[in-house]
Amino acid sequence: MTTERAFVALGSNEGDAHAHLRTALAALDRDGCRVAACSRLGWSHYVGIVEGQRPAPVLNAVAEIRTSLDVDTFHARLHALEDEAGRVRDGRPERTLDLDLLTFGDVVRTDASLTLPHPRCLARGFVLSPWMEIAPLFRVPGTSATVVEHAAALRVPDPGPATDLEPAFAAPFADRGAACEVLRDREALDAWRGLRQGRVGVVMTMGALHAGHASLVQRAAAECDAVLATVFVNPTQFAAGEDLDRYPRTFEADCALLARHGAHAVYAPTAAELYPDGVAADVEPGDAAEGYEGAERPTHFAGVATVVTKLWDATRADVSYFGRKDAQQLAVLRQVRDRLGLPVEVVGCPTVRAIEGLALSSRNRYLEDAQMLLARKLSTVLEVLRISAAVCAAPAGAYSVEEDLATVRALLEKDSLDVDYIDVVDADTMRPVRALDGPALAIGAIRLGGVRLIDNRWIAPPARPHA
Ligand code: PAF
Repeated sequence: MTTERAFVALGSNEGDAHAHLRTALAALDRDGCRVAACSRLGWSHYVGIVEGQRPAPVLNAVAEIRTSLDVDTFHARLHALEDEAGRVRDGRPERTLDLDLLTFGDVVRTDASLTLPHPRCLARGFVLSPWMEIAPLFRVPGTSATVVEHAAALRVPDPGPATDLEPAFAAPFADRGAACEVLRDREALDAWRGLRQGRVGVVMTMGALHAGHASLVQRAAAECDAVLATVFVNPTQFAAGEDLDRYPRTFEADCALLARHGAHAVYAPTAAELYPDGVAADVEPGDAAEGYEGAERPTHFAGVATVVTKLWDATRADVSYFGRKDAQQLAVLRQVRDRLGLPVEVVGCPTVRAIEGLALSSRNRYLEDAQMLLARKLSTVLEVLRISAAVCAAPAGAYSVEEDLATVRALLEKDSLDVDYIDVVDADTMRPVRALDGPALAIGAIRLGGVRLIDNRWIAPPARPHA
């Protein structure tokens, strides 16, 4: 029996919106349908003008459904569920339940009954934001771009969600993917690895996984025959006084996320197994580790280089995937790989961002609401640097990296943000760049309360591949 992958946008702004969405999801989880993933919930303003009225905000989510139904039967099922929820179809803005079929398999069609992909799905922030959470690298049929790329390209005025997303449905629909085998020790890892054929991809993590990690796993699943994740909170990359003890540990939820996004197995070793001779960092991280994070956290990259080298060796991965959010880590690891002559490909993957640009990070969960708003300013000023460079660094333009850096630093400090650094660097060497004659990265780090956040943006189109 073939199973198709469908994405559905759910909305409600009449009655108990949470209950309507919950009931719809439960109904989409039976009779030939299965909820494979559901985003968190977000409120958005009603789109459209209704004279003399201010329609209630809409509660939104996007779900991935696996179904054995054909496209028309599935679409009819959505319509029937709207009717069951008491939806009145008289053009009013209030809707007990709105179920929009965004995509169904790779179907592209336009006829009287149905247009696929959904005609407005790529122009709505309240669809793309939750969709990006569960399937950032899904290539939208009939287009050449992924969900995350469509979200980045969205330039139409977009109401966006009125509040942050809330994790309402995480629990009931978390663990529906194929099982992900847990490898607790080296013996289990070796046995698993010995049976794998073809290209093996590894996604190394410290757990507390989010959509950013999910996008790495999805990329690995798309490019490899087998995908292994590792979950290990590595003590050697934390200095005394950092958050090693309170670093979030969410192993069960992590395994569910890994399975759902395509990992076949997860290696979760103990410190004793990875560091049999005592917990110490003994791999030299190289020049790229010198400034920025390396200056703020002098022992950090030696710890990262040590553990990643051990995990490359243990997993014998052909390719390993890292997020570009940790740009310096990526540069360091490429240098270490080259210096040691290791036969592993290192792939840097796009940063996944939440609403308003905040780069996803396991440490975002330490932030309180008001801090979350401030945290977004880091990505905003990096974006300002990017745009300013794009506009002013044209051949005839008078452009000064220093002036721009001073301006955006002042913007952050005006909000009493504690700036560790903000700079423009070469992404391979992590050396400052002042003449913009090639690709460069705007990088920054701030402290908010006890939380340290980093981010970066390309400020010139990469002329050489950084993938
Ligand atoms: O990026 C991380 O989460 C960690 O630094 C890594 C690469 C898993 C090493 O512990």
